Amino acid sequence: MGFKTTPVGGLPTLALAPGVVARPLDFDDTAAVFHAVEKNRRYLSRWMPFEHRSTNLEDTRAWIGTRPHFVAERGVTLGIFDGDRVAGIISLLVDRPGDDGAHLGYWVDEDCQGKGWVTRTVSAACEYAFANGVERIVIEADVDNQRSRAIAERLGFHTEGIARSRLWHRGEYRDHAVYAVLARDWVGAGSNRRGRSLKATRKSDRPARPVR
Ligand SMILES: CC(C)(COP(=O)(O)OP(=O)(O)OC[C@H]1O[C@@H](n2cnc3c(N)ncnc32)[C@H](O)[C@@H]1OP(=O)(O)O)[C@@H](O)C(=O)NCCC(=O)NCCS
Repeated sequence: MGFKTTPVGGLPTLALAPGVVARPLDFDDTAAVFHAVEKNRRYLSRWMPFEHRSTNLEDTRAWIGTRPHFVAERGVTLGIFDGDRVAGIISLLVDRPGDDGAHLGYWVDEDCQGKGWVTRTVSAACEYAFANGVERIVIEADVDNQRSRAIAERLGFHTEGIARSRLWHRGEYRDHAVYAVLARDWVGAGSNRRGRSLKATRKSDRPARPVR
């Protein structure tokens, strides 16, 4: 795929609520990311392998350095910032350099669930990826992770099936629901079930596939 813009510069800050924005992570955010993970570690570990992740500032900084926008043409990782505090992270990672497929991962602070921040940031990340040559974006979620599955469904991802024993997690193999959306199908979520506007891009607004 080809991210033709400089990702950090090419992806504008997304305003989610007064004082709340989503923007690409930077090394200056190391302490804020670390504190957010520490605060949420037990809750995140329910569905994600967070037990041994980012357990100190050095780890966290190193992790930020692996984020896609620091590695040419591999995607983008956005932090949701509530003031100076990290309230969530959304990562869109291109599967292999030169590939047109990407995977999404996300989490939000336990106390910030239910506000639509993740749905809207994921939607913006998809817009960005499709405008920059990505063909297919995948979300995989534990079959029992209803809140995560709801994000994919709210944004019009298609259910592709169940990947059996997809992940060894908390002492057992877990099945994951696989959702995907293709560039040609993308309409975002013009409105969610409750009719809130998500400012989705219509297919006709999308630029032609960029020259690569
Ligand atoms: C999965 C997870 C990110 C979902 O978070 P969430 O808060 O449900 O997601 P959103 O921020 O998009 O919020 C959606 C809710 O906001 C509501 N909402 C409010 N305003 C909204 C808006 N403008 N747009 C969309 N939704 C809006 C939705 O209706 C929905 O509410 P509901 O759950 O009562 O139906 C979160 O539970 C989490 O971090 N879990 C732990 C880690 C994890 O499981 N990550 C995923 C691994 S695959």
